[in-house]
Amino acid sequence: MDQQTQSKIIQANVDTHQLEAPIYEAIHYEIFNPTEQKRLHAALTEAAKSRPSLRALDLGCGTGNMTEKLLALGFIVDAVDLSKEMIEVLRSKRKSDIESGRLKTHVGLLEHVGLEPGYGLITSYSVIHHLPDYLTTIHQCIRLLAPGGAYYIDHESLDPTRQNPLYRALYTLFGTLHAVLRFPYLVWRKILKTGFPTVYKKLRPNINYDMSDYWVHEGRSVNAEAIRALALKDGCEFQHTLYLSHGGRWMDYVLHPLFGSWCVNTQVMVIRKPL
Ligand SMILES: C[S@@+](CC[C@H](N)C(=O)[O-])C[C@H]1O[C@@H](n2cnc3c(N)ncnc32)[C@H](O)[C@@H]1O
Repeated sequence: MDQQTQSKIIQANVDTHQLEAPIYEAIHYEIFNPTEQKRLHAALTEAAKSRPSLRALDLGCGTGNMTEKLLALGFIVDAVDLSKEMIEVLRSKRKSDIESGRLKTHVGLLEHVGLEPGYGLITSYSVIHHLPDYLTTIHQCIRLLAPGGAYYIDHESLDPTRQNPLYRALYTLFGTLHAVLRFPYLVWRKILKTGFPTVYKKLRPNINYDMSDYWVHEGRSVNAEAIRALALKDGCEFQHTLYLSHGGRWMDYVLHPLFGSWCVNTQVMVIRKPL
């Protein structure tokens, strides 16, 4: 990928998360719904069972979804994110952990924040698809792990061609129904956009999701096979688990109980460094 595209992806992430920070947890119901939180808590607890060091790193920590779980599991956490606004939300929630030294926050790119190796656990939840050159970043994380430590990567969509066609068809059908129900809102938006362009721009600033979520758009997806090859080349074990994500929308409450045990659309990868 050329330097210009890399810079555009990073800038789009800075802009997107600056705007989203104050409302991030309210609008991302695909992350903060109870079913997803329960699954994530169980999977992370399992990954953290063997911990050669109590130091943890949360890369792309956002407002602290993983950081708070790592603190609850007893880790001393370095939380890294390129958005200062997202980090500010996390800092406002965990003042006492910052004062006690259990939590340190770092604004910037991983390669610029100067961390020392020796982490027992590194996490990135819903982050890898935001990184321009995710293989290089994953390689840097492997270098930061203590022997026996693990890098836990979660909430990365699976290539749609590997998803169950029946589930996809039903999801599309429910999605269309959802759009029909939202029709009055879409009309109102159109009126606002053409009638009051300045007001509209203030209410709905232009966020470039195509660039910030780079590896989920236009047929791109995070390549688990390339990550596996990298992990094995670095002498690590690679564990790949698939699950059906609960999107937290009304249709997920219908479809997830029916399909959750036999359809998949999302992946977890755990890279473990040998002792
Ligand atoms: C979808 S959010 C996930 C946040 C959090 N992990 C969670 O579970 O809610 C993606 C986060 O990655 C951060 N991010 C994007 N690109 C990054 C990069 N190159 N380096 C560090 N953080 C990055 C964004 O600022 C944002 O906070």
